Order: sequence, then structure tokens, then C-alpha cells
Amino acid sequence: MRRATKSRAFTVVRQPGFAYRNLEGAFPTLFCEEVELESLAPRHGTPLYVYSAETIRSRLRAFDRAFRSIPHTICYSVKANSTLAILRLLADQNSGFDVVSGGELERVLGVRSKAAAKTVFSGVGKTVAEMELALKAGILLFNVESASELLALARAAARLKKRASIALRVNPDVSAKTHPYISTGLHEHKFGVPIREARRLYAEAGKDPNIRVAGVSVHIGSQITDLTSFTDALGRVADLVRELQRNGHNIRYVDAGGGLGIAYKDEPEVFAKQVAAYAKAVIAPLRGLGIHLLLEPGRSIVGPAGVLLTRVLYRKTNDGKRFLIVDAAMNDLLRPSLYGAYHEIVPVQLAGPSNREWEITDVVGPVCETGDFFARDRELPVVQEGDLLAILDAGAYGAVLASNYNTRGRPAEVLVDKAKAWLVRRRETTGDQVRLER
Ligand code: LLP
Repeated sequence: MRRATKSRAFTVVRQPGFAYRNLEGAFPTLFCEEVELESLAPRHGTPLYVYSAETIRSRLRAFDRAFRSIPHTICYSVKANSTLAILRLLADQNSGFDVVSGGELERVLGVRSKAAAKTVFSGVGKTVAEMELALKAGILLFNVESASELLALARAAARLKKRASIALRVNPDVSAKTHPYISTGLHEHKFGVPIREARRLYAEAGKDPNIRVAGVSVHIGSQITDLTSFTDALGRVADLVRELQRNGHNIRYVDAGGGLGIAYKDEPEVFAKQVAAYAKAVIAPLRGLGIHLLLEPGRSIVGPAGVLLTRVLYRKTNDGKRFLIVDAAMNDLLRPSLYGAYHEIVPVQLAGPSNREWEITDVVGPVCETGDFFARDRELPVVQEGDLLAILDAGAYGAVLASNYNTRGRPAEVLVDKAKAWLVRRRETTGDQVRLER
């Protein structure tokens, strides 16, 4: 048996947000910035999302620095985490936004109406009502994904006597080498228009008085770790930009989408280094085009900035197979169930008298589905009923994918900034859930 205290993986967890600290005379315990996670659970209950403000700010800064050699705007992808306090924090750092629905746009406008000028609208199925909302708000760019959408947008703009700035989202037919559910850049996917067809659509759009052709956009998928996929996709985009510019289109923007992956499993790389390599891969094909680069990172900004705190309800053994039944479930954090995603799970109290030994166990929730698990056959330090666990890297695609399945209220969310912990979303009650029903 190994000793938990000697495991390197548990000495640094996710800097600068989450790390163990040794309080005098006590076992190491996990902190979010200067706040002890153990202290948040009794106050706010579990399951509980906890986010580190400084992690979000520092990752945004690192992103910005990495792209300093080219004019650029970071449009944080709201779908990754749309909690208002997080959007406000990002707006305070001058971030722009990438939205995919009228609802996301309303969140952004609610936080900072001026941010519309730095907001791009993506998605294959924008409704006319959503287009009108965005036109009235005066967003920076529509990423248009089909001929029919272009027509609907031109009509909406004409009705409102506006001119819509557009980029066509092209489908570069490049593999992102990621999970098939979050890969978007192959011709068999529903996203974007093939480059061949884009040429024809640009020519049409260029003639429409209510459309301003402003850019080309691309997004090939999410959780991408092979940077050559970005270079390949942007190489194809650059060829198209040159061609369009030759044909007299004023292509001012290239929107490179999001997709930079994070290290869920391994010791995380220093983000500044990782994002610098990403910037190199993205910028190289775009040299000399004279464009302004738009970026839509989601996961890489907020993923490692959040954990899901959960309490062990029961230990159970079925014919020798061990289970830790925790109070969080697939409705709170869907990624393991939906994608078989790996999330590191660590005990909040590192080496209490109970968790010095290690064991192989499943970590599962209370929902009535076999797919309701956070980890399978995971080697973990032994923890007891009542102990707290932290599921790491839950800041992106965590709270936003939460549901009320099994009539479970969605978790509360806390934002930590240095020594302060703000409740930024209270726990949902059953009353909240049935309020809309008759
Ligand atoms: N831009 C567009 C057009 C997108 O579709 C996405 C993500 C992003 C930007 C942001 O990508 P990111 O930087 O976060 O990789 N629920 C899945 C991820 C779905 C991603 C969807 N699109 C997951 O939990 O892994």
C-alpha cells in the first residue's frame, strides 16, 4: 500500500486556484485560493461548485499575452460556464464573448451591455428572434453556417434597417482528433459550410445591402491537444481569405474558434507555455493577411478554475467490488456519463487517520442509472462516509450541463477571490423546480 502523503499528484493540485495547505498541527487540507474548502461545505451544502477568480483572470491574461504579436480579441465562449458572476469577472478584464443562443446573449447584455460590441454569435440554428435580438444589441459578428441562415439574417436586418456583419463558418474537413461528440470540423458534421460552397456564398453575401462581409470563421472541435489540427484548419482558412481579398471582399476578421484542451489526467503544464504553443500554431498560417484575430476559448479559461465538492454518503461492496456513493450525480456533472470523461478526484483532507491506505473503487452518484458515475476502478486514498471529495477541472461544461433529473436541485455555486467566498448561485429548491408547472 502506498501512502497518500507521498503521492506527488496530490501536492500541487491546480495552481493558482487549488492547492493543499498544511495548517499548523493538522493534516494537509485543500484550499481554493485562501479559503479552506472544508469550511464551505457546512455553510453552503454539497454538492457545491467552487470557482477560483484568480485562476480565471490569470488564464485570460496568459491567453492575451500569448497572442500579443497580432491584433486580437478574446471572445470567451459563454457555453463553457455562463454563471453571471463569472461573465462579470471576465467583462471586468475586458473580455469579449462568444454566444450560441439568445439566452446567452441576454446574460452577456445583463452583465455589461457594452460588451455587445465584442460579442460574436455562433451556432447552426439561430432563430429569427435571436438574430433580431443580436442585431438590436449591435453585436460584432454573426458566424453564419448555411445559405438559408444567411438569407434569414439578411431579411431580419432589412426589416430592422440594419446591416449585419458576417463571417461564414467554414468546415475545413480537418480532424480534431478528439472525442467524436465534440469534434466539429469534418464534412460529415453538421457545422459550417464546405470551403467550396463558401466561395459562392461570399459572392452572394457581398451583393446584399443588409450584409457586411467581414470575416471567415472556423471551429474544429473541443478538448484538442494536437496543435497541428489548428495549423491545418487555419492554413485552409488563410487560403480562402487571400482568395476573398483578391476578389475585393474586405475580410478584416479571422475567427479561429475555441478548442484548446486541458490536462484532465496528467500533471497540468504551465498554462502560459501551453497557450504560447497554441498561439504559434494559430498565428503562423495567418501572417501577412492583415486581419484582426478573434478567439473563442471556453474550457481552457474556466475548466481548471472550478471543482465540484461532494460528500461521501455511503461505502458499499458488492461481491468484492467497491463503491463510494457520493451526494453529487450525473445531473450535476454530466461529462463522465456523456463522454466517458476522466476527472481527477481528490480527498479534501489529504491524510487524515482514515485515508492513508489506497483502494480501487468506483465513485458513483445516487441517480438511478448505471451511467451515473464519476470514476470507475479508480485508485484513491481510502475515505470514510462523511468525508469530502473534490472533483477537479469541473469549471467548464459542469454547471451549464446540470439538469433536474430525478428532481434533484442544481448545485449552489461559490466564487472565491483571495480570502473571500461569494455565493453566486444559491442551491435550487424543489419549489424552484415546480414553479412553472400547473
Ligand atoms: N466556439 C464554438 C463555435 C464552439 O462550438 C465551442 C464549443 C467553443 C467555441 C468553445 O470551445 P472550448 O474552447 O471550450 O473547447 N460539452 C463538451 C464540450 C462541447 C464544446 C462545444 N463547443 C465537453 O464537456 O467536453
